[in-house]
Amino acid sequence: MKAVLFGASKGMGRALARLMAARGDRLFLIGRTPEDLERSARDLEIRGAPTPVMTAFCDLLKPESFAPALDQAERELQGFDTVVVTAGMFAAQEEMETDPELAARVLAADFTGTVLFCEEARRRLLPTGGGTLCVFSSVAGERGRKPVILYGAAKAGLSKYLEGLDHKFRARGLRTVCVKPGFVKTGMTAGLKPPPMAGEPEAVARRVLRAIDRGRPEVYAPAAWRGVMCIIRNLPRFVMRKIEF
Ligand SMILES: NC(=O)c1ccc[n+]([C@@H]2O[C@H](COP(=O)([O-])OP(=O)(O)OC[C@H]3O[C@@H](n4cnc5c(N)ncnc54)[C@H](OP(=O)(O)O)[C@@H]3O)[C@@H](O)[C@H]2O)c1
Repeated sequence: MKAVLFGASKGMGRALARLMAARGDRLFLIGRTPEDLERSARDLEIRGAPTPVMTAFCDLLKPESFAPALDQAERELQGFDTVVVTAGMFAAQEEMETDPELAARVLAADFTGTVLFCEEARRRLLPTGGGTLCVFSSVAGERGRKPVILYGAAKAGLSKYLEGLDHKFRARGLRTVCVKPGFVKTGMTAGLKPPPMAGEPEAVARRVLRAIDRGRPEVYAPAAWRGVMCIIRNLPRFVMRKIEF
């Protein structure tokens, strides 16, 4: 596999990158913090990734950075067949309700930025036969929920976009994998009270890598969230108004 990883210096992206490095996949890292990218690249080389692991600047809030980053990856890897997007932003609903600029950044990063980045990736993957576009959305996008109204709305839009891509382009070889994590213990959720089913990034990464290898269009991680969200999707509105979930 020749993979471009966006957001692999932390959390679930880092855990997934380490698994891919250990099995010898060729990797190219992109992200917004150059020192973190360099440190991660050296870490992945030690763990077995073919050397050198190269890096490029890419910021979800700067769409002008998308094409140059992917062009550089194409040159360094001599083409790629896989793009994984774990980059994303989270902020608490209450904070965003009182801080419209923060809300604008989260919406721009998690919806507009991610979708425009995927469009750049799609334009490069399709002419070479397709490949895999794996993007982390969230269970927060499954239903309008009080604690995640804005973040969930961005992820809902992202999930629908990925579903549409899969419907249109799978026949031409592009396998879209939409990952829907539940609560996973990473920097993003540091300080939040973990629910009983909270997942670890390493276990999520193993599940996601299996889904990438099999080309599954949708994967819940940890797995128990599939059942939970099936119930939540079917709850009537009067119940959703009462509960705090
Ligand atoms: N953790 C959970 O419970 C959970 C649940 C559902 C969905 N998700 C989704 O899963 C994905 C990975 O989450 P995680 O928990 O592994 O997060 P994480 O540990 O916080 O890592 C997030 C990554 O995104 C990067 N990033 C943030 N803003 C960016 C921007 N504007 N441009 C480029 N990169 C940016 C960060 O880079 P920097 O180091 O430069 O900040 C970091 O590498 C995200 O899309 C998240 O929304 C997470």
